[in-house]
Amino acid sequence: MDSSRDTPLIRFTAFWWGLGTFLVFAVLFGAIYLFNTKGAESLEDVVAVARYKTKETIHQAQLAALSKEQIEAVIPAVGKQLAASKPVAVEKPEQIVPNSPTAKKLAEAPVADTSAIDAPAADADAPIDPAVMEIGKAQFLICGACHGQNGEGGPAGPPLAGSEWVTGPISNLILIQMRGLVGPITVAGKEYSFPAGMTPMAYQTDEQIAGVLTYIRNSFGNKASAVKPEQVAALRSEVGKPQIKVEELTKP
Ligand code: HEC
Repeated sequence: MDSSRDTPLIRFTAFWWGLGTFLVFAVLFGAIYLFNTKGAESLEDVVAVARYKTKETIHQAQLAALSKEQIEAVIPAVGKQLAASKPVAVEKPEQIVPNSPTAKKLAEAPVADTSAIDAPAADADAPIDPAVMEIGKAQFLICGACHGQNGEGGPAGPPLAGSEWVTGPISNLILIQMRGLVGPITVAGKEYSFPAGMTPMAYQTDEQIAGVLTYIRNSFGNKASAVKPEQVAALRSEVGKPQIKVEELTKP
């Protein structure tokens, strides 16, 4: 700097200019900070706010539930368990992955022996237990979505009322529940064709399936013997196989 310009007055002005500029910015940022309290506007902002809030709640809950020492003690224990655990064998047929080697092997396996199930029962004429009918009626709600609540049939399923399949061999009905059904089917003299067929409905308990099958065999004007939970249990091994074809069923 030119030493002739380094006067006390210039130093004095430079100092106040500097301080002034600093203050102007301080006031500006202060104002922006103070007046910028508008809430989240876009959906993204709203979601972000909610996310941070949830994160904080979870964080607080975790802090309250477990101390740092506890967490540190648990991690190696869990790690040891994970390292020691072996893959678990499939326990339930429902766990079989479609198109997996296990599923393919199952598809090739012959249909389970159904002769015992279809043998005429000594108590075939026994009156139907109303409690079983109640279980069946509750389970039927979902069947009714496709077959009609009165078994009359509809765009998504053939009729159950007056169907020879329903009052025919019990094994057919259980196989249809366990595996689903595909292929054109003639019911009461009329041919029906549903491209996707019926999906398996094996998630219910043996009692529930026996109940719903007993229900359809004894409703909508149908009359036939009750289906027993043991008969359902005997065909559980069929679950996981592909949809059964109409030709594979026993002719009613
Ligand atoms: C998503 C629709 C759908 C649901 C739900 C459904 N079915 Fe079916 N069902 C069908 C179709 C479609 C067929 C015909 C399959 C084929 O051969 O193409 C069929 C066929 C049948 C048949 C043999 C044909 C007949 O009409 O007698 C029986 C018995 C049967 N279903 C019982 C049941 C029972 C019991 C339930 C409930 C546990 C049930 N279905 C749930 C669609 C359904």
